Amino acid sequence: MNNISDNYTLHNGVQIPCVGYGTYKAAEDHQSKTIQMAIEAGYRYFDTASFYQTEDCLAQAIQDSHIAREDIFISSKIWKTEMGYEETKTAFANTLARLRTDYLDLYLIHWPLPFPGYEQWKSLHYNTWKAMEELYEEGKIRAIGLSNFLPHHIENLLQHSKILPMVNQVEFHPGYIQETTVQYCQERNIQVQAWSPLGRTRVLQDPLIQELANKYQVSPAQICLRFALQKQILPLPKSSSMERMKQNQNLFFFHISKEDMYRIETMPPLGWSGEHPDRGTCI
Ligand code: A2P
Repeated sequence: MNNISDNYTLHNGVQIPCVGYGTYKAAEDHQSKTIQMAIEAGYRYFDTASFYQTEDCLAQAIQDSHIAREDIFISSKIWKTEMGYEETKTAFANTLARLRTDYLDLYLIHWPLPFPGYEQWKSLHYNTWKAMEELYEEGKIRAIGLSNFLPHHIENLLQHSKILPMVNQVEFHPGYIQETTVQYCQERNIQVQAWSPLGRTRVLQDPLIQELANKYQVSPAQICLRFALQKQILPLPKSSSMERMKQNQNLFFFHISKEDMYRIETMPPLGWSGEHPDRGTCI
C-alpha cells in the first residue's frame, strides 16, 4: 500500500480501502458530527455494527456529505443476539433501514459465541452463514465475513459452507498480534482487519513504540498503524479529533525496517482488551 486511496482486493475481487474509520463510540451523544468530521478528514470506509448504535448517525453523516453511496464503503455486523438463519435476515433488513441504503459493502458476524460456554455454536454459525451466503448471492452484500473468529471456528464454517469468508476482523496491535489466527487467515486469502489497532492508546507509551516514533519522526499511533499495514492487515482506527483522524491516514511516507518489525512482533504482551472469543472478558 503506497497511498491512503489504495485498496486491498478481497478474494471475490471486491476492492476495499486500505484504512477504515472505526465508528464504535463515535456517536455516544447520538449526533453524527464526529462521523461527519471523519468524512471531511478523508475516510471513505466506515466500520459500524448494530451493537455500536452508530448506523443511523453514519447514514445521517453520509447524507449530509452529499457523497455518492457507491463512493463510501460501508461495513456492519450481526450482533450476538441476532445470529441464526431467520434472525440474520431480520437483522440485515434492520441494519439496511438504519443505514438508509439498499446494500452493504461488507457484513460480518460480530462474535463467534452468543455467550461464553454456548455449546451449539457450530450449528448456529452454519445457519447464520447460510443466510449471509443467500444475501450475498442475491447481490445485497458485496462481501461477507467474520469478526473475532479463531481458527477452530473458521475451520467448522469451512466444512459446512459454500463461500469462503472474505474478511476476519480481530483485535490486533503491537503487544497483541494473534499470530496463529492471522497466519491461518492469510494462508486462506481471508483479509485480516485490525480493531483497536492502537490498543485503545494502551500501547502508545510503550518504550519500544516511543523509541521507534522518535526514530521515524512519526507519532506512536502512526507506528502502530504502519505496523498493521506492513503485516498486510487493514487497520480501523477510531478518533474524535480532526488532527488525529488525519494523522492516522498519513502512513505512507515512511517504512518500518525488517529489524524493527521483528522487534515489534516480539515485544512483550501488552494492551490486550481482555476479550476472548470463547471466554468473554478475562481481565
Ligand atoms: P481520540 O478520540 O481523543 O483521538 P483504538 O482505535 O485502538 O480503539 O484507539 C482509540 C483511542 O485512540 C481513542 O481514545 C483515541 O482518542 C485515541 N487515538 C486515536 N488516534 C490517535 C493518535 N493519532 N494519537 C493518540 N491517540 C489517538
